[in-house]
Amino acid sequence: MRALFERFGWPGAGEKSFEGLDVCTVVGLMHDCAREESDERLLQLAGESGMEIIPRMRDCPMLAHGIAAGVMTRSLVGDVPRGWLEAMAWHTLGSMRMGYTGLCLFCADFTEPGRRYLTDTQRRGYWDRDSLEAVCSAVLDDRIAHWRSKGFVPDTCSLQLQDFLHSGGKMKRN
Ligand SMILES: [Fe+2]
Repeated sequence: MRALFERFGWPGAGEKSFEGLDVCTVVGLMHDCAREESDERLLQLAGESGMEIIPRMRDCPMLAHGIAAGVMTRSLVGDVPRGWLEAMAWHTLGSMRMGYTGLCLFCADFTEPGRRYLTDTQRRGYWDRDSLEAVCSAVLDDRIAHWRSKGFVPDTCSLQLQDFLHSGGKMKRN
């Protein structure tokens, strides 16, 4: 996340840090912390979040691991910015609700060094764009194509984000 923010710009002060911890440290480290929890536990945690749980997440609780991670983050770190929780919540599917911080997490999660499904050339192909929205548009297009190739019908939230990015939309930097 840090490399992407340094390249394309940081979120506003409201989402850049919380009590001396920067967004990359908390969101980058915590977004997958609930990944190993059981389906029942994920839905229980998600239910405690107060955030919207879309039907797709009830069908496949693993998709709610970002919402559950937010609940764990709040108990471990404190009342972090709402945008951090939204970024974590939607890093699985992509959504308009994930905001600028979420764009960064979504892209970083998919293109971080060490991902064996990407060559360095492919990674540069994603990063070598002029905005975080453009990077995310490319990443999301490939994610959606991958999901379809596996027989997974993309959720409306992913398609709405794709339309927004294709039309040149810019996320507000809170
Ligand atoms: Fe994840």
